[in-house]
Amino acid sequence: MVIFGAGGDLTKRLLVPAIYNLAVSKLLPEQFAIVGVSIESYSNEQFRELATKIIHQFATCEVKDESWDWFVKRIYYVAGDFHDANLYAKLKDTLGQTEKEQETQGNCLFYLATSPEFFPVVVQQLGSAGLTKQEGEKWRRVVIEKPFGHDLPSAIALNKTIGESLEEKQVFRIDHYLGKETVQNIMAFRFANGIFEPVWNRRYVDHVQVTVSETLGVEQRGGYYETAGALRDMVPNHIFQLITLCAMEPPISFDAQAVHDEQTKILRAIQPFSSQMVLEQAVRGQYGAGEIDGKQVPAYRAEPHVAPDSQTETFVAIALHLDNWRWAGVPFYLRTGKRMGKVATQIVIRFRRPPFMLFRKTSVAKLAPNEIVINIQPDEGIALNFEAKVPGPVVRLGAVNMTFEYSEYFGSTPQTGYETLIYDCMMGDPTLFQRADMVEASWTVVQPILDAWKATPANDFPNYAAGSWGPEKAAELLRRDGREWRDPSSTDGRHRASGPAAQQKPA
Ligand code: BG6
Repeated sequence: MVIFGAGGDLTKRLLVPAIYNLAVSKLLPEQFAIVGVSIESYSNEQFRELATKIIHQFATCEVKDESWDWFVKRIYYVAGDFHDANLYAKLKDTLGQTEKEQETQGNCLFYLATSPEFFPVVVQQLGSAGLTKQEGEKWRRVVIEKPFGHDLPSAIALNKTIGESLEEKQVFRIDHYLGKETVQNIMAFRFANGIFEPVWNRRYVDHVQVTVSETLGVEQRGGYYETAGALRDMVPNHIFQLITLCAMEPPISFDAQAVHDEQTKILRAIQPFSSQMVLEQAVRGQYGAGEIDGKQVPAYRAEPHVAPDSQTETFVAIALHLDNWRWAGVPFYLRTGKRMGKVATQIVIRFRRPPFMLFRKTSVAKLAPNEIVINIQPDEGIALNFEAKVPGPVVRLGAVNMTFEYSEYFGSTPQTGYETLIYDCMMGDPTLFQRADMVEASWTVVQPILDAWKATPANDFPNYAAGSWGPEKAAELLRRDGREWRDPSSTDGRHRASGPAAQQKPA
């Protein structure tokens, strides 16, 4: 496994700990080596020492001498400039050395943990050096990190450049959301159970909500974030993965092609945005100063590397419509933002209200809709919210919240979330990765929003306080459809708006 960007944050915090976890779980072959590549000059020995420091800082499990000794002697290092052909000649020699010393037999996974400007450079150079060539049983694969392109034209151009050196099946475009157990479980939940699929459609579902809220601001990433913004950073990748898995038809198998085909159909079924639709169905926001967990935090425009008059959005909410037989008329509302009230990634499937007639002559004022709430993180689990009769002579209904928590049922093994993804690359299974046409279909959906926002600067930024649930316009987006966002801090499926005390007690 060759890691480009071996000195970077991703390698330290996630890749090395994830590969070590695979080693501890005995999921790596004996014939294995890691080759770190980056600009800093280290010897193999120095890089091994650095890796030892890293693992003690970032491991998610206890580092045991025996397994670390096995691991560390398989680490090599090559220094150089990614643009320089000599680097790839040196890399070839080092790969020859690993073949001799670790019997790696010529299979090679190149992991591009670099800044995105190097993706085309490294792929082209690997191609010219003959390093992407597969012969006989020997495979060569390339993992490409996010962001894949900056907009539709750049994603198409990147796919084209990659296609000149690699076949599609050699390319693994990573979206780390697919490494999350709870995201992978969406398919199991829908398709391994008989009771959900029959009601998973426009006849029974009123609407779907996806919330990805973070309490963190941009931290030290202002330089990157100023060129990205919440829409690019979260929507065409992480959030569209969640939506496609929730909305797709059952694939004919778990084969990558079958799953990707169904996901792509969903992306193509999203109603294209006209500029008028962008005005009506997309909301952008930027955080001002505020309070999070009792601490004052600065406005986005006061963060490091951010322009004082920045137009970058740190929040986005969108209402999407899918033009297909299963979902026609069922809105999918999504929202994501930095510096929001709570950390939560949550999918809510809200069902239609049952007819009220039966309860007309009782003290029940209103029937609450049923909900399935999929908590992707934190508090990973699934909840089903329904109504039950409160015992007693008067007809009263109370909200029941039936929950399944992963940690309670299956225990928890602290992982980085990259283990499954790296393992799948080594096994050659691309199911949890994005195919070229999926990436382009995703950018096709968001491109009109990017264009419309670029053409009309936001004159109300900052328009939400840090620690809040985003701009007022995001609440209006649902309110005008007679709906409201579910408050992710509410465990019982009821809205905060009606007051916490009212939520606890039966209506
Ligand atoms: C990254 C984004 O892809 O995903 C970050 O660039 C974001 O801005 C992160 O914070 C969220 O990932 P997670 O796993 O913490 O939900």
